[in-house]
Amino acid sequence: MDRRRAGRRVPAERLLHAAAAEARAGPGGRVSALDGRVVAIAGATGGLGPAVARALAAHGATLALTDVDAAKLDALAAELALPAERVDVRTVDLLDPDATAAWAAALVERFGTVAGLAHLVGGWRGGEPLPTAPLEDWTLLHDLLVRTVQHTSRAFAGPLLDSGHGRFVLVSSKQAQAPTFTNAAYGAAKAAAEAWTLALADGFAQQEADDPRRATANIVVVDAIATAAMVEGKADSAYRTFADADDIAAAIAYVLGDGASAMNGQRLQLHGGTRR
Ligand SMILES: NC(=O)c1ccc[n+]([C@@H]2O[C@H](COP(=O)([O-])OP(=O)(O)OC[C@H]3O[C@@H](n4cnc5c(N)ncnc54)[C@H](O)[C@@H]3O)[C@@H](O)[C@H]2O)c1
Repeated sequence: MDRRRAGRRVPAERLLHAAAAEARAGPGGRVSALDGRVVAIAGATGGLGPAVARALAAHGATLALTDVDAAKLDALAAELALPAERVDVRTVDLLDPDATAAWAAALVERFGTVAGLAHLVGGWRGGEPLPTAPLEDWTLLHDLLVRTVQHTSRAFAGPLLDSGHGRFVLVSSKQAQAPTFTNAAYGAAKAAAEAWTLALADGFAQQEADDPRRATANIVVVDAIATAAMVEGKADSAYRTFADADDIAAAIAYVLGDGASAMNGQRLQLHGGTRR
């Protein structure tokens, strides 16, 4: 039997994608996974944001950076040194639903499409046993970790679907599924953010088969984020369950790319599989 004819049929759509990529790269050119994709980073100047921005820029993404501190955003944009057409920098208070919606609309107006939203807004309160931990911690963490996810997901769900390959990525904590006695508010807030993201994934999964619009929502789960400076000179064992910021950034770049197009509503765990 002719082995070529016996092989699985390659869907025409996949061939078209490959041809389009080849055309973009030009003869002998290299196409990166995120070439031409506009990715918004919410909370871009925190502990993880710069590593994510660097990784996505290296993969060819156009970046829409936002945070609350204009000076830090400008410093990050200067460090990235992307051409003006590949970067958008705006301060947005993501606790404000209207401002968040206006950010999404402004990006669609400028670029025509937004293909990804990496949600990196963070904050932590904890360390006190559950019976005595201040309940105000819950108020703050609910705002930072849940409300900002609600606002970005509602503002970007439409544009992500319309892009044809939209990606929503939440970075969460293993405390969401294995909360400790001194992290009740933090664990509960992250659990709520995860549930919200999974509900978004469910909505994306409901697309009709003949609807060309496709999007996914997934969660990258870590214990704590380690930067090179944190780990330097420390015993390895103390950081065994920590994830390197650059490794988390690489995982986010993967989830944003076409290689993860069949992954929706999943928790990608980067903490060695430990519950504690
Ligand atoms: N740092 C960790 O060890 C750790 C562990 C588990 C999960 N996470 C999660 O990973 C993600 C990134 O962590 P991180 O340490 O970089 O977070 P972070 O605490 O540094 O916060 C990220 C950014 O969010 C910005 N931000 C806060 N409020 C905002 C608002 N209203 N509008 C816009 N931006 C706002 C902050 O200015 C900050 O630059 C977060 O979602 C965090 O919850 C972090």
